[in-house]
Amino acid sequence: MSTIKITGGRALSGQIRVQGAKNSVLPIMAASILSGGETVIHNCPRLTDVEAAISILRHLGCRAELRGSTAYIDSSAMTRWDIPDVLMRRMRSSVIFLGAILARCHEARLSMPGGCELGPRPIDLHLSAMERLGAEITERGGDLNCRAGRLTGGRIDLAIPSVGATENAMIAASGAGGVTLITNAAREPEIRDLGDFLTAMGARVHGAGTSTVTVEGGAFREHTEHTVIPDRIAAATYIAALTAAGGDLTLTGVDNRDLSAVTEVFRAMGVELTPSGDTLRVRASGRPNPPGTVVTKPYPGFPTDAQPPLMAAALRAAGTVVFVETIFQNRYRHVPELARMGADIRLDGRVAIVQGVSALHGARVEATDLRGGAALVVAALAAQGETEITQVRHIDRGYENITDELSSVGAAAERIDGKDETDGNERA
Ligand code: UD1
Repeated sequence: MSTIKITGGRALSGQIRVQGAKNSVLPIMAASILSGGETVIHNCPRLTDVEAAISILRHLGCRAELRGSTAYIDSSAMTRWDIPDVLMRRMRSSVIFLGAILARCHEARLSMPGGCELGPRPIDLHLSAMERLGAEITERGGDLNCRAGRLTGGRIDLAIPSVGATENAMIAASGAGGVTLITNAAREPEIRDLGDFLTAMGARVHGAGTSTVTVEGGAFREHTEHTVIPDRIAAATYIAALTAAGGDLTLTGVDNRDLSAVTEVFRAMGVELTPSGDTLRVRASGRPNPPGTVVTKPYPGFPTDAQPPLMAAALRAAGTVVFVETIFQNRYRHVPELARMGADIRLDGRVAIVQGVSALHGARVEATDLRGGAALVVAALAAQGETEITQVRHIDRGYENITDELSSVGAAAERIDGKDETDGNERA
């Protein structure tokens, strides 16, 4: 089993280049099969979730590979329309392939994603969006069978602005005949990026990144190139790391416009943030100020994915910090692990109350999910003594070389590689 060892208490100084966005590249890789041609994706992060998407593409009969930070996909020889259970379990967001497979093959067979570590993982909105475009869906023994003649454009009113359902609807609509209107769409920057990709491929997409998106299916180009936007959650994690450790760090390759909900909270904690072009300089020292109550919300609100790393940075706040998690039911699994490091956190349903402590201490802790694992890394940078983090495969799903990045800016962090097994319960 791979582990990360961190000895805390060392200030960070230098530069980190922020990876491309995981939550952009996965739907873009899925959408690439619509064209039946070649897709080249730049700024692709090297993550196990990206490897999982490559495995799905290869299973479908596509050629797919990652060279450096560029993914090459050729879907001209695609032969299959099913995703086996083992691949669905490797990555919960595999459901994002549904709209693309259905539009391309008029048929799709996937297993139900079921529950996951952050709580129940419904896909009802994804399925009703497909039905609105003309698909017939049946479920038997946990398998979903979806069929359609050619999908046709329609009106999709989402009950909640689900990121995945908005993306699935946009992808399917791009392969459908006619115009689709999506209302109450999610507004995350990754949706804007998907819209740009679909447009580059030949669809006509308007309003991606706002609550109302229209999509008109188009004739796809043989060859599409796209550069993925920067990962705002990875950026938020590195800001949290600097807040925990103190120092002077410059993040490069960021889009500061997408970070405002995050930077507002860190500023309230006394962190000095100086944006300039596509860089962000971050300076902090001493115990952070308490930023008050942090409520996770759909974009442009504070992102649920940045809640665990922020909480880790707030453990040594000079006062009380309240978190209210409104997106996922089970997003505090890092809390008992942080408590092993001396954190004082009280949990009450969706509310977590952090009482800042003057010092944390190293401990042996286990990453329980991707962002919860990142929170342990952040806390370890602030803790006295050594922290050993196990189950780092969760962290590998979303961070490219986090240990190397942090040691390059002065952290005492090392990764010890071992054989990892998966439990098949992964998610964003
Ligand atoms: C995406 C992100 C994830 C992020 C989340 C919220 C990817 C790969 N993952 O996940 O990192 O945490 O957005 O910003 O981009 N819901 C339903 N029915 C559905 C779909 C969702 O009830 O059919 C609910 C969910 O249970 C959740 C809420 O909607 O409570 C938001 O989920 P959603 O926006 O769909 O998240 P994901 O797309 O799964």
